[in-house]
Amino acid sequence: MIARVSRSLRPLSTTRAALSTWAKTPAGPPDPILGVTEAFKRDTDSRKINLGVGAYRDGDGRPYVLPSVRAAEERIVGEKLDKEYLPITGLPSFVKNAARLAYGADSKPLVEGRIAAAQSISGTGALRVAGEFIARLYPHNKTIYLPTPSWGNHTPIFRNAGLEVKQYSYYDKNTVGLDFEGMVRDIQAAPEKSIILFHACAHNPTGVDPTQEQWRKLSEVVKEKEHQVLFDMAYQGFASGDTDRDAFAVRHFVAEGHGIVLCQSFAKNMGLYGERTGLVSFVTADPDERARVESQLKLTIRPIYSNPPLHGARIADTILGDAQLNAQWLSEVKGMADRINGMRSTLRSRLADLGSKQSWEHITNQIGMFAYLGISPEQVSSLVNEHHVYLTRDGRISVAGITEHNVQHLAESIYKVVG
Ligand code: LMR
Repeated sequence: MIARVSRSLRPLSTTRAALSTWAKTPAGPPDPILGVTEAFKRDTDSRKINLGVGAYRDGDGRPYVLPSVRAAEERIVGEKLDKEYLPITGLPSFVKNAARLAYGADSKPLVEGRIAAAQSISGTGALRVAGEFIARLYPHNKTIYLPTPSWGNHTPIFRNAGLEVKQYSYYDKNTVGLDFEGMVRDIQAAPEKSIILFHACAHNPTGVDPTQEQWRKLSEVVKEKEHQVLFDMAYQGFASGDTDRDAFAVRHFVAEGHGIVLCQSFAKNMGLYGERTGLVSFVTADPDERARVESQLKLTIRPIYSNPPLHGARIADTILGDAQLNAQWLSEVKGMADRINGMRSTLRSRLADLGSKQSWEHITNQIGMFAYLGISPEQVSSLVNEHHVYLTRDGRISVAGITEHNVQHLAESIYKVVG
């Protein structure tokens, strides 16, 4: 009786904690990239700068909705369209237009109906679907090789999809550039028919890309070893400001006869971050194979998220399908790339003005959204904790987050920490 009374007097929260199914669930670490934004939001210092996540900001540091996107949205709203489910593989005209943007309008497999494709939940969703598809159906060696370093989410995406993940050399700390010899050596040394992931342009996190000549050589090496290539193209337009130029590697490999897998994102180049708009596609041998691959794409997608979201695909489709809006969008992409490059030069010259003895040449040599500073995790901690400059632990900064208003504080902070 006494025992029963004392049990009922125990505070409810204690009882609940003791009985909860999840009582022993360990706390996970924050996400290496998105966790930086969470920490940034908690900081109350007025000088704080968020250079963690790769999201474009305008000259005043504000999120930027492209005017072409606003115009497309107005059209879509005006049409009073329904909200029905999309097919499992997405909005057909978007799929066609997005594939054309990547492969080029005169691409042979595109013209011949040999590209199996499905709209995806942005680049991450494309990679996950590709990973699941490969894990289930690729008949050879199920190991995927990633560059060292690679985007932090690549490894969990492919491991969770059921693939084994290994690395090839990519970045050379000493030159703060590409270790091309090491890259070729490792790709040659991988067992035949391995899966090789390449960043198509604007490598994340290093901002270091192979030259066109080096891509040609890589295509030969891959062909000799009969490897399967998976291109992650999340930044088409962000490397050079020109979407055709940035598609060079993809188009060269396709022209050389590689049956590539391609993952596209419209998060960066259209600023459709939260709309989750992308494409996963496979270059196949003939229309019959395309149809079979597409049927398996449907079987891969349906149990994960059934079918993709509508609004972002409509926006991208409206822009890509209208000559005038498309031209406007291309100039806006160039505008974003130009502002980023301007900020690279400004940051480098401010560091020089402060008397930094380091060569910050790599900041202007690297391309795309990121600069890889080549600094230690301890130096990153000092930037975050003492100077309120938020960046990822590997020393990557999103140059898209730098503005005329914060570049001086950034340069001074880097100078104080690195010298
Ligand atoms: C990044 O690398 O910052 C972006 O691709 C955003 C993300 O999801 O990690």
